[in-house]
Amino acid sequence: MGDRLVCICNMVSEKEITAALKKGATSIEDIQYATRAGTSCGKCLMTIDQVVQEYEMNAVIDPQRKIKF
Ligand code: FES
Repeated sequence: MGDRLVCICNMVSEKEITAALKKGATSIEDIQYATRAGTSCGKCLMTIDQVVQEYEMNAVIDPQRKIKF
């Protein structure tokens, strides 16, 4: 995972999305709420979904993860 810009409308990078996932976000809706990515034109929603899926596939299941937004 790099630090590419995922959401141009709201200037949200992949790093910011990953940070939200580490804090407990588990869905596109959580990412939208936490970062505002995908809340304007919506063209980045597929990319956000890919980042979420990649993170979930690579993440170790941690029962202590809680949403902190
Ligand atoms: S590029 Fe993300 S909402 Fe437009």
